[in-house]
Amino acid sequence: MPTRDPVAVNRLLADAAATADFARRLYGKLPPDLSGWTILLRGELGAGKSTFARALINAAGHSGPVPSPTYTLVEPYQMAHGNIYHIDLYRVSSEEELSYLGWEELEDGLRLVEWPDRAPGLMTQADIVLTLTYENTGRRVELRALSERGEALVRGFESS
Ligand SMILES: Nc1ncnc2c1ncn2[C@@H]1O[C@H](COP(=O)(O)OP(=O)(O)OP(=O)(O)O)[C@@H](O)[C@H]1O
Ligand SMILES: [Mg+2]
Repeated sequence: MPTRDPVAVNRLLADAAATADFARRLYGKLPPDLSGWTILLRGELGAGKSTFARALINAAGHSGPVPSPTYTLVEPYQMAHGNIYHIDLYRVSSEEELSYLGWEELEDGLRLVEWPDRAPGLMTQADIVLTLTYENTGRRVELRALSERGEALVRGFESS
């Protein structure tokens, strides 16, 4: 039986502006109702996870600052089309700790998660995983689908 390639998009992002542009384009592919969506942002220190998150949150209509959630764990944004939760699990060391930050209550919006590998179980709950890696002076981004609706989104991205 032929095996199907995983649905994925792979691009070189030459600079931070390209990372922000990629985030705006991804936001444009999301449905108006963001509830229950989870996007994981992987990448080592300084890979561009927050640059991506900030641009997506701005694209959703937020014009103020987008502070790092490293210490607060969650920074919420109330947008017209539903909430966006910018989450940073850098300081989280186990799956159980997710309940402290009220993970379950964040289902009414889009969860954008930096350092998702701190809670490996998230891979089975998320829609998309975005991995940023260093490449020369830029970054390589890989967008991979983890759910059916994530797959539809990534396919839409492939053809644009
Ligand atoms: N495609 C890119 N090419 C080159 N530099 C980039 C690119 N995208 C983002 N940057 C730059 O990388 C630096 C780190 O970005 P950012 O803070 O978003 O990373 P991060 O992954 O959130 O880091 P941390 O792990 O510390 O949270 C910033 O100076 C940002 O402008
Ligand atoms: Mg960051």
